[in-house]
Amino acid sequence: MNTIHKQMAAINGQPRLPLRGTSGQGLTMNGERKTVNGQRPFIPYAHQWIDEEDIQAVIEVLRSDWLTTGPKVAEFEKALADFVGAKEAIAVNSGTAALHAAMYAIGIGPRDEVILPPITFVATANAVVFQGGTPIFADVDPDTLLIDPTEVEAKITPKTKAIIAVDYAGQPCDYDALQAIAKHHGLFLIADACHSLGAEYKGKKTGTLADLTVFSFHPVKHITTGEGGMITTENEEYAEKMRLFRTHGITRDPSKFARANGKPQNSMLHAPCALPFYYEMQDLGYNYRITDIQCALGISQLQKLPKFLKRRQEIAAKYDEAFAELSGINPLAVRPNLLHAYHLYVIRIDSNILRIDRTALFTKLREKGIGVNVHYIPVHLQPFYREKFHTDTGLCPIAEAAYEQIISIPMFPGMSNENVEQVVIEVKNSVCS
Ligand SMILES: Cc1ncc(COP(=O)(O)O)c(C=O)c1O
Repeated sequence: MNTIHKQMAAINGQPRLPLRGTSGQGLTMNGERKTVNGQRPFIPYAHQWIDEEDIQAVIEVLRSDWLTTGPKVAEFEKALADFVGAKEAIAVNSGTAALHAAMYAIGIGPRDEVILPPITFVATANAVVFQGGTPIFADVDPDTLLIDPTEVEAKITPKTKAIIAVDYAGQPCDYDALQAIAKHHGLFLIADACHSLGAEYKGKKTGTLADLTVFSFHPVKHITTGEGGMITTENEEYAEKMRLFRTHGITRDPSKFARANGKPQNSMLHAPCALPFYYEMQDLGYNYRITDIQCALGISQLQKLPKFLKRRQEIAAKYDEAFAELSGINPLAVRPNLLHAYHLYVIRIDSNILRIDRTALFTKLREKGIGVNVHYIPVHLQPFYREKFHTDTGLCPIAEAAYEQIISIPMFPGMSNENVEQVVIEVKNSVCS
């Protein structure tokens, strides 16, 4: 068995912690895995899986002529579009850039409101603000912490232009309800699927459940490109807009030049289309380009995604079983008719039942080498949003109450069964002692 086969066998059968890491969690400055009291390895809450195949794919690009936008970008876009079943895919250099591009494509501007949940990473709301729009926070379902469609309806005003659904932890939102609301009120539906690559809702993959869907390839996510993001859509016009947006709003395609569109020509330039070096900046864009180096890694990672997802689901099943009869520890509810991608495994700590609260448990587990985390501090409680948008405590009471109880325990495909057992034992010991 060569190294790659050994590593893939490890994903299928006896997984172990990955050998390499760049996301930093649980690693010393030398890249060695931290240990607790010199014994057990620190188990991070998330970690990328990089194997020899990935490394070779990147090396191949480094030896080629292309470092930034080259053939690997289109190849990665096509592979991801095919995987989710979407017509168009546009790769950019982060999930945040992907969200920004999506807000641009649907024309969010200063008079627009966009409804989104507060239990998400700040980037979801920030993308609305980048375009001058106003994020409106709608509370979440108490059992899943996904945006509650009833709360969405209650927040619609004449200024509402879009809804952003966040597939928190990897579980798809209630897309039937959200699509119906969007259609009824003439709103755009955007899916922030940064947690849910590979998840399914009623047999359809995320990437096809909204007007535009956004993914992230940060190392803690299902597949990584170091940093990176993608938008999928069925709409060619939006796809074209986002391709311009990711490269300064510039086009070199003669068929897209202003004269070709019947618009007035730039009088400073004579017959500009005839100039061999001619390009046009048609709108304000950014440098959101992803590199061929990153996309080569993405293509290689995507091939392993089904195995990564399977292992995440196996780990979730072990956690579900371990916590089933432990009162006071409540994993988030999972709705029927879907495939959960388990970016995160989140438990809620009921301190009325247990003698410990979330924060004390967090501290204890970290001391024991379990890399827990909290996803997320509700966005509307962040000082920036409080000051700029006058959001405050009480705006989303369900999200605020959940925030006091939630903790994300380790979940990544490189975890061994022993690692999973160690997490369970430490959680049980911490809440029972
Ligand atoms: C829900 C959600 N949206 C957006 C982002 C932003 O993605 P990126 O870190 O790739 O910019 C993240 C990343 O953590 C996320 O979790």
